[in-house]
Amino acid sequence: MSSNDESGTFQLGDRRVSRLGYGAMQLAGPGVFGPPKDHVAALAVLREAVACGVNHIDTSDYYGPHVTNQIIREALHPYPKDLVIVTKVGARRGADASWSSAFSPEELTQAVHDNLRHLGVDALDVVNLRAMFDVHHPAEGSLEAPLTALAELQRKGLVRHIGLSNVTPKQIADGRRICEIVCVQNYYNLAHRTDDALIDDLAGRGIAYVPFFPLGGFTPLQSSTLSEVAARLSATPMQVALTWLLHRAPNILLIPGTSSVAHLRENLAAARLALTRQTLDELNGIGS
Ligand SMILES: NC(=O)c1ccc[n+]([C@@H]2O[C@H](COP(=O)([O-])OP(=O)(O)OC[C@H]3O[C@@H](n4cnc5c(N)ncnc54)[C@H](OP(=O)(O)O)[C@@H]3O)[C@@H](O)[C@H]2O)c1
Repeated sequence: MSSNDESGTFQLGDRRVSRLGYGAMQLAGPGVFGPPKDHVAALAVLREAVACGVNHIDTSDYYGPHVTNQIIREALHPYPKDLVIVTKVGARRGADASWSSAFSPEELTQAVHDNLRHLGVDALDVVNLRAMFDVHHPAEGSLEAPLTALAELQRKGLVRHIGLSNVTPKQIADGRRICEIVCVQNYYNLAHRTDDALIDDLAGRGIAYVPFFPLGGFTPLQSSTLSEVAARLSATPMQVALTWLLHRAPNILLIPGTSSVAHLRENLAAARLALTRQTLDELNGIGS
């Protein structure tokens, strides 16, 4: 049992991970583009995460681009045996930091090879196909061709497990007919609860749900109720927001992002916070 297992564990592909992991996107430069302001601090955050028992790190080669994966490799390679690194493909960055879709079989193959090279591994633990029909929200559109291409890379042994990101329930159901889907990564937090029914459905199927922007992302969560509850529990609003997610459903895995060791420690300590039924009801009011 790792020191971070107070958050509980969940099966992700062929590994069991602590439910409190780490999202590495904040380690790239401003706008998730270019190098971090403080390279040494970025290495320190990753090393501290692993030292604290984090064994699930979320990344992508389009963070930077390439920067985040290179920092992960520099900080942690050779990787601890129990570490699961989850990456994403399906997008590319322009020279102006823009995001566009990269869904052709050639682009997906290139992305998988870029991730392998920059992370320094022979096979990727989990690869999420990130839908880009609308950059900000799930939107209908067929994922058959890109998912089939990714499944082919899985058959070749370059990818162990496949997940989906920024997707609708229909895309998940269609995707599960092409290959096994081990996780779904969508926008969800205390204040943004579009996926409530989806989370419960995936829980029943043993599929992990990994909310991105668990703390509100680029605009961290702000709510007087959240602040009041946090003050009452002698905790911070961010810790309460994370603990609420841990209580929300057993298949939720957390990947809060931070570029600061102090925030990382604070976020991991959320595993030790307990919320009563009454407090949960109070917090549920924020998103309703
Ligand atoms: N699939 C997708 O489309 C997608 C999209 C976005 C993100 N992601 C993944 O999801 C992960 C999480 O999302 P995210 O990092 O964008 O957003 P987030 O975890 O909701 O929030 C990160 C923001 O909160 C701040 N923060 C973190 N801990 C804090 C604390 N204890 N107190 C105060 N502020 C705190 C961070 O600033 P500091 O650096 O100053 O701590 C940063 O500005 C990412 O790292 C990435 O791996 C996936």
